[in-house]
Amino acid sequence: MLKGNTVGLRARHEDDIPLLHAGLHDDVVTASRATANPWRPLTAGSEALPFQVDDKEQGHVPFSVVDLESGALVGTATLWGIDNHNRCAHVGLGLLPSARGKGYSTDVVAVLCHYGFVVRGMHRLQIETLADNIPMIRASERNGFVREGVLRSSAWVMGEFLDEVLYGLLARDWKPAVTV
Ligand SMILES: CC(C)(COP(=O)(O)OP(=O)(O)OC[C@H]1O[C@@H](n2cnc3c(N)ncnc32)[C@H](O)[C@@H]1OP(=O)(O)O)[C@@H](O)C(=O)NCCC(=O)NCCS
Repeated sequence: MLKGNTVGLRARHEDDIPLLHAGLHDDVVTASRATANPWRPLTAGSEALPFQVDDKEQGHVPFSVVDLESGALVGTATLWGIDNHNRCAHVGLGLLPSARGKGYSTDVVAVLCHYGFVVRGMHRLQIETLADNIPMIRASERNGFVREGVLRSSAWVMGEFLDEVLYGLLARDWKPAVTV
């Protein structure tokens, strides 16, 4: 397990999947805002469930996020789009509704940075989020990510096009916030 100050990032357990599915996928608005894919209902146990792990997929590393003190599942965190030639990757996370607003996100991003830069030797990490996702933007900026641009009307979300913002962090600019 990778440890931050308040969260641990560990392998996905089978019994995490229904909790993540209920908290993140079944909420149509949250799921539509957090992923680029159109929402559709998925049957429990389906191979297509977004929280099902395919260990053979090298470019996509999903973690389950737990509260370090209690061990309770609080969400999901992913290093995705790993490009080992250009040594860049994307950071993504989603917290269960009951775990939001407690400051976990900054710590989750910090641990993903450690995984990306130290464990995987990445040179650049990137975050794309909706321009109105203030908690995600704050968590990115608190870890040193810099706003690099606005992707105008790039996301179709619940009946309208919304802007996304692009944040990047280079290994040389990263100041580790946790000793993992
Ligand atoms: C986005 C998400 C991960 C943020 O996690 P969180 O733990 O709820 O975030 P927090 O409430 O701790 O907020 C993070 C920071 O933003 C600040 N913040 C939150 N709402 C704010 C607002 N409206 N205005 C200004 N600052 C705000 C918090 O004060 C905190 O700052 P701090 O660390 O300096 O105290 C979480 O809300 C989530 O999982 N949402 C659904 C899925 C999602 O959107 N994922 C991201 C897809 S890219």
